[in-house]
Amino acid sequence: MDKLIINGGHPIDGEIWISGSKNSGLPILAATLLAETPMHVGNLPHLNDITTMLALLRCMGVGLTIDEKMAAEIDTSSIKEFTAPYDLVKTMRASILVLGPMLARFGEANVSFPGGCAIGSRPVDIHLRGLEAMGATIEIDEGYIRARSDGRLKGAHIFMDTVTVGGTENLLMAAVLAEGKTILENAAREPEVVDLANCLVAMGADIKGIGSDTLTIHGVERLSGCRYNVMADRIETGTFLVAAAAARGRVKVKNTTEHILESVLLKLEEAGGHISTGKDWIELDMKGNRPKAVNLKTAPYPAFPTDMQAQFTAMNAVAEGTGTVIETIFENRLIQIHELNRMGADIKLEGNTAIVTGVDQLKGAPVMASDLRASASLVIAGMVAEGETIVDRIYHIDRGYECIEEKLQLLGARIRRTAG
Ligand code: UD1
Repeated sequence: MDKLIINGGHPIDGEIWISGSKNSGLPILAATLLAETPMHVGNLPHLNDITTMLALLRCMGVGLTIDEKMAAEIDTSSIKEFTAPYDLVKTMRASILVLGPMLARFGEANVSFPGGCAIGSRPVDIHLRGLEAMGATIEIDEGYIRARSDGRLKGAHIFMDTVTVGGTENLLMAAVLAEGKTILENAAREPEVVDLANCLVAMGADIKGIGSDTLTIHGVERLSGCRYNVMADRIETGTFLVAAAAARGRVKVKNTTEHILESVLLKLEEAGGHISTGKDWIELDMKGNRPKAVNLKTAPYPAFPTDMQAQFTAMNAVAEGTGTVIETIFENRLIQIHELNRMGADIKLEGNTAIVTGVDQLKGAPVMASDLRASASLVIAGMVAEGETIVDRIYHIDRGYECIEEKLQLLGARIRRTAG
């Protein structure tokens, strides 16, 4: 199993290019199932999760060509299978995103039931209830969600009692081909939902209220392919900014924008970061100063993202003062703190709250990645720790960060990958 070996304490200063968004690329690839003519999706990141989604489309019989820049040409005219098998779903829960579009276009979808994962139970009840409200029949059979629709789905008024990104995306993709009007209330407003909605509109969908918590969709009879580039990855952007803040360094991230991570930039300013921005770049400069600990609480967009919580916890671990980190989205998403404490951090866990008192110096240690964002936090900790940190199980990090060690090396970090 690959590991990352990091020698900490080297100055961080440089510029890097941000990749396309994983969490936007995944639903947009699923949305290509709705198009009757070929679709061209650009700016996809080269990540295991994206490869898994492409494999899922391929195993359904979708025609795919991918160029060297990870732009995909996708043709669904050859589709012959309406099943997302267990082998693929078990490696990526976001496979559930093919359920809505497959059902809406073909009247049939069988998706292996995604189980829990390291960060919590992660149910899909809201996805299923919403599809039922649109007239689908759903059975759970031998570990599979088997959804059927007799003719087109029917528009419905759906209130989602929890803000769910995947649920909003699945129901939106189902509603664009349903007969009549669908209203999705308490919809997620994450930039990735907006990116998906913009892509669907470019395919011919009629969606009002994009970016708000109420989406009104008038179903159309067919959608066609278009050319669409996925947005920049706001979590990758934020991760590199936090890494520079923790290391008292400077980073300029390019091909990204400040509008997608305002709550994160506010916290970085509070931590003492000097931030400047342009149309497609953000720069953070700590001017050599130690970060100040910040308090934060995760919540749906536009509040502070759960996907940035672990990285800020790592920064707080070496900051001046004490910061409180409250996780409200996933029940088991503070697990990385035990590994950080093994590196000398002073973090106490009380329920869903981590109380992080900054220490002068972390010490390198062998640590184990437990999920995607937790592994990013361990890499950040390794970069600022004294001595060598070995991060094991980095397949988690490869799911969400393109060329992580190359990009960090460009900033001055001493980091390399070993196999075995
Ligand atoms: C997406 C992101 C993930 C991010 C999360 C929250 C992708 C591929 N992943 O995950 O990186 O951390 O949003 O911003 O985009 N819930 C239910 N019932 C449901 C669905 C969700 O109770 O049917 C709950 C979940 O358990 C969780 C909360 O809703 O507590 C939010 O989850 P959700 O927004 O659905 O997360 P994902 O879409 O899986």
